[in-house]
Amino acid sequence: MRSLVAGNWKMNGLKAESLELASDLAGRARSGAVCDVLVCPPSTMLSDVGAVISGSGIMLGGQDCHALESGAHTGDVSPVMLADLGCSHAIVGHSERRANHGESDAVVTEKAAAAHKAGLTAIICLGENAAERVEGRAKEIVTLQLHGSLPEGASAANTVIAYEPVWAIGTGNTATPQDVTEIHDHLRGELIRAFGDDGNAVRLLYGGSVNAGNASELLAVDNVNGALVGGASLKPDDFWAIVESGRPD
Ligand code: PGA
Repeated sequence: MRSLVAGNWKMNGLKAESLELASDLAGRARSGAVCDVLVCPPSTMLSDVGAVISGSGIMLGGQDCHALESGAHTGDVSPVMLADLGCSHAIVGHSERRANHGESDAVVTEKAAAAHKAGLTAIICLGENAAERVEGRAKEIVTLQLHGSLPEGASAANTVIAYEPVWAIGTGNTATPQDVTEIHDHLRGELIRAFGDDGNAVRLLYGGSVNAGNASELLAVDNVNGALVGGASLKPDDFWAIVESGRPD
């Protein structure tokens, strides 16, 4: 399956540096990207970054979305607004949202459903924390989160799953290819259970301290269909090295 490498810029980047990063990546993409590439800037920069990457083949995504299309929700961004700015994807259920904004699986399901309704592909994030891993509960936790966060109507065409162990995010403690193989094989089985054959076509991304040095071995794992990259996505050389570790088909 063709890989998807997605950059999650999180709450980073003022205008000048965001535009510089976007135009650097767009220049590289115009000479051809090995796999699909997505950038998810902060919502303040979506419009400007969208203009810079337009025509380069790089896709644009939001880092979160509200479950409703519009209304009295101060500070929130709706999936319809993201689509209106040219986004094709929205990340939902990132562990930082789950932890900092108390988002439950039920909320994540609503957000994913709203993203679908707006025509966006939902990148649903899940992953166990350090204590859950030590207790040997990683598979149990991701299984619960997966089935608890998939909305009705989810399919390979509108849904990407990102396995992001919380202990690996922003820590430099990347999961080993063995850890990733075990969880991704398990998630693949669960996706087939949920969707039948279509479960084979759902992209499964790995995220958590992916960098230029470890991307090729992580992206070579059988059921890893791409990466969700935080810190390294802010450095064009590093991010592009990850893109180049992806598979064309
Ligand atoms: P990281 O973040 O690559 O900085 O670990 C990944 C993510 O949170 O999506």
